[in-house]
Amino acid sequence: MFTFKVFALFNILVFVRGATYSQTDSHTGTGFLKSFTVESEADPTHGRVNYVNAATAASLNLTYASGDTFILRADSTTVLSASGPGRNSVRIQSNKQFNNSVMIFNIRHMPEGCGTWPAVWTVGPDWPNGGEIDILEGVNNQGPNQVTLHTGSGCTMPSSRSELGTPAQNNCDANVNSNSGCGVKVSDARSYGPTFNSDGGGWYAVERTSDFIKVWFWSRQATGIPTDAMNGATSVDTDNWGTPQAYFPSTSCPISSMFAPQNIVINLTFCGDWAGASSIYAASGCPSTCVDYVNNNPSAFTNAYFDFAWLKIYQ
Ligand SMILES: *[C@@H]1O[C@H](CO)[C@@H](O)[C@H](O)[C@H]1NC(C)=O
Ligand SMILES: *[C@@H]1O[C@H](CO)[C@@H](O)[C@H](O)[C@H]1NC(C)=O
Ligand SMILES: *[C@@H]1O[C@H](CO)[C@@H](O)[C@H](O)[C@H]1NC(C)=O
Repeated sequence: MFTFKVFALFNILVFVRGATYSQTDSHTGTGFLKSFTVESEADPTHGRVNYVNAATAASLNLTYASGDTFILRADSTTVLSASGPGRNSVRIQSNKQFNNSVMIFNIRHMPEGCGTWPAVWTVGPDWPNGGEIDILEGVNNQGPNQVTLHTGSGCTMPSSRSELGTPAQNNCDANVNSNSGCGVKVSDARSYGPTFNSDGGGWYAVERTSDFIKVWFWSRQATGIPTDAMNGATSVDTDNWGTPQAYFPSTSCPISSMFAPQNIVINLTFCGDWAGASSIYAASGCPSTCVDYVNNNPSAFTNAYFDFAWLKIYQ
């Protein structure tokens, strides 16, 4: 009996140390609509979008929740007037903020289509000083996914570091390089757009500590996915997750002062500063101009939707 108690205590001590986290928040189906607020603000990145409010989103079925399905999508039936508002779509923001934590997104489908610019990201107050972590983001169906940090001044990344992805640019400061941030291209072609969707999506996981930010991606078709992440277990151990796709150490970036508590944002815009930049849109092989295409081809956006199985958060 004594031996057992000592053994149990030892286990508890081990359990709370290291990279083991306990689940604090679990979102699935209608739970997303309780923990997130639909925001109908204007898009600061000049997208050809009209972010509708919660009631409109629900009545147009642009948000839909049932069982373990949560859908967030854009309108795919309306031809737009060139002089009127942009395509109806949805932006949601978490009611809670998170400091150091692990977040796992189990996503079955993400928006695709020429002109689409979907994003799953976290952001602090007083941008860019509160920091921004772009977990899943891209434009015009062009994979792979790029994970990017945007910060205030004084945050750079070492060019050589232990990650599977390929760094694009190493200065995270949003005030330089036209706010391109420090991005890392994921090494797995299944990480974005049509390929992500045809494989049934997958899992994105983010771990934030004072010492680093790490992002992992596992396609649903991958083998050797850590079972705690795959199942959204009640506790997870990131030490067993292997080399991340993107690794942002605090070596020359004081993570704890560059990143304030963050809200989670999920949105889908069209065209705008990134997807609609004429050189970028043309280089993606998409037809016409971005705005004309988005205005005139509603049926091209039938697959412009997110389908989340769940989002779980650990601290
Ligand atoms: C929507 O997402 C894009 C991509 O991250 C972002 O740049 C833009 O500011 C977002 N729009 C809103 C209204 O938050
Ligand atoms: C709303 O969307 C869901 C998911 O795509 C679909 O199953 C349902 O039939 C739609 N409802 C209406 C009224 O169109
Ligand atoms: C985040 O950390 C700061 C500083 O320790 C603390 O004041 C704040 O309450 C924390 N916020 C959340 C949402 O945990």
